[in-house]
Amino acid sequence: MIDLSTDYLGLKLKGPLMVSSSPLSESIHNVRLMEDCGASAVVLSSIFEEQLSLESSALDHDLSRGTDSFPESLSYFPDMDDYRAGIDTYLSHLMRVRGSVSIPILASINGATAGGWVRFAQEVEAAGADALELNTYSLATDPRIPGSELEKNLIELVSQVRATVKIPIAVKLSPQFTSLPNVAAQLDKAGVNGLVLFNRFYQPEFDIEELSVVPRLNLSRPEELLLRLHWTAILYGNVSADLAITGGVHSAEDVLKGIMAGASVTMMTSAIHLHGIEHIAAVLSEVQRWMEDHEYASIRQMRGALSRRSVPDPSPFERGNYIKTLSSYTMRRPALQ
Ligand SMILES: Cc1cc2nc3c(=O)[nH]c(=O)nc-3n(C[C@H](O)[C@H](O)[C@H](O)COP(=O)(O)O)c2cc1C
Repeated sequence: MIDLSTDYLGLKLKGPLMVSSSPLSESIHNVRLMEDCGASAVVLSSIFEEQLSLESSALDHDLSRGTDSFPESLSYFPDMDDYRAGIDTYLSHLMRVRGSVSIPILASINGATAGGWVRFAQEVEAAGADALELNTYSLATDPRIPGSELEKNLIELVSQVRATVKIPIAVKLSPQFTSLPNVAAQLDKAGVNGLVLFNRFYQPEFDIEELSVVPRLNLSRPEELLLRLHWTAILYGNVSADLAITGGVHSAEDVLKGIMAGASVTMMTSAIHLHGIEHIAAVLSEVQRWMEDHEYASIRQMRGALSRRSVPDPSPFERGNYIKTLSSYTMRRPALQ
């Protein structure tokens, strides 16, 4: 009997595939179906720092003016009113989901600056979240701010949340750090339980006819997995935080690669949007079949088998392989006339 179970953030998970944060989890019916199809945990869609500040600004405004008008100066947020549910709706949805399934449910907060909103983490904990995923999406656009300061802010933010709640915390990271291992080590020290690799960078589309730049969300492609595998394989064994992969996990092979790179668990969203929630069951049964064929008894047995510290030749993870990689492409080209 194959053991598909795994551990993540101190939680016992029944399998190696979770559902990452997306609007799919805004329906209880969907979350139940995810559980039935074998998802081992679900991350709820994020509540945003801006949303939380908006709520408290709106409240301050109402209290000071006795009106229900909304501050004009905040209108640049994109339809924040109805983009996601408000705080109370978020918490009551969390409680209802928590009561409807037995797999772990993770709340997600998306923030970039330390601030009063960090207290919201406590409310999420009180509402029954099994863990908290902190999405630290921030984009460096100010040339006066060096990377070291942004990293300092990140650690400060995470430390504040750590000091606020007892439940496990995972941090969903951007791949864009000069030294990811150093940032990971600092986060480890700050007491995070997991690192989620990686946030996708949503690039806006350039419309040359309308002369405008417009937001666009494309679903991921499996090729995006390689970046995650690379860094997971490098971090595995060097941090005590568990590693999770999000981005480009579409198939059973992707799940297996992620675990072998060193992930405790892999996460899926785009493939579910493309193929339906039932895709989870199909992927897991393929994972099981592959493990049987290759005589693996458990997910734990496979974990890290292709990590940098396990492979006999770690040079593909390093600069040493650079020239070899470039010349391997040249050799595949048709012979020149
Ligand atoms: C429609 C949509 C909404 C998403 N909303 C969130 C969100 O609220 N918070 C978050 O951390 N990630 C969000 N994500 C990112 C996913 O959780 C995931 O990290 C990303 O899509 C990469 O995984 P995938 O390749 O399996 O799609 C969203 C993704 C999609 C497609």
